[in-house]
Amino acid sequence: MKTVTINSLHDLKAQGKKFPVITAYDASFAGLIEQVGIEVVLVGDSLGNVIQGQDSTVPVTMEQMAYHVSAVRRGNSKSLIIADLPFMAYATEEQAMMNSAELMQAGAHMVKLEGGAWLELTVQLLSERGIPVCGHLGLTPQSVNKLGGYRVQGRDEQAAEIMLKDAKLLEQAGIDLLVLECVPATLAKQITEELSVPVIGIGAGIDTDAQVLVIYDMLGLSPKVPKFAKNFLAESGSLEGALKAYADAVRNGSFPEAEHGF
Ligand code: KIV
Repeated sequence: MKTVTINSLHDLKAQGKKFPVITAYDASFAGLIEQVGIEVVLVGDSLGNVIQGQDSTVPVTMEQMAYHVSAVRRGNSKSLIIADLPFMAYATEEQAMMNSAELMQAGAHMVKLEGGAWLELTVQLLSERGIPVCGHLGLTPQSVNKLGGYRVQGRDEQAAEIMLKDAKLLEQAGIDLLVLECVPATLAKQITEELSVPVIGIGAGIDTDAQVLVIYDMLGLSPKVPKFAKNFLAESGSLEGALKAYADAVRNGSFPEAEHGF
């Protein structure tokens, strides 16, 4: 695999080619991901759940994120690495800039933050200063306490309209990628078609430009596999085989199936 850049991901969208994204938190998995040619690695704050055994991502700190980002970067020199800004690490524009700089210096190529219109200026400031940004709309796990649980978002007309508006606003502000988590497939399709930046779905149907899964979910290691995930290890028998099967299924459009969506 050639070194992946924002430009190569944008080219894939322009050519109508889907690409896989997977989370990783350590050098060994990151190396395997490079070996099988997965374009994008997300060092997600889901590490709070799957590595630390927390019941949400809220306890994850900047120090922990930087530690895992540097491990992933040492194991993988070709994939594009996105790092989550953790809970309250971007509550103000100044915090967002300082904490994004720390993650980029730890080895990330892009930062991800959760939220809509309130992040317009933050995205603009980061982007102007050379920090690529991935937005994240729909189910935003850092807000689980405010949302009242892990629920599908954008189901009614008004919520769907706000999400579409937020997506456009974030694109105008400068995001380079957008994650849509747990949103109705029809809404994800509309947002994907109306945005020029690649849209990555998780529990968002088949029509986004890319898919992302938490690696422990797709290896069947999570105690409760979410509806939107699939165990690729069960049918392939090796870690490398599972990652390859996932990447192939995303690229050829056979994952996700209707049963994985809302
Ligand atoms: O933290 C994470 O792994 C994520 C994905 C589930 C999109 O944000």
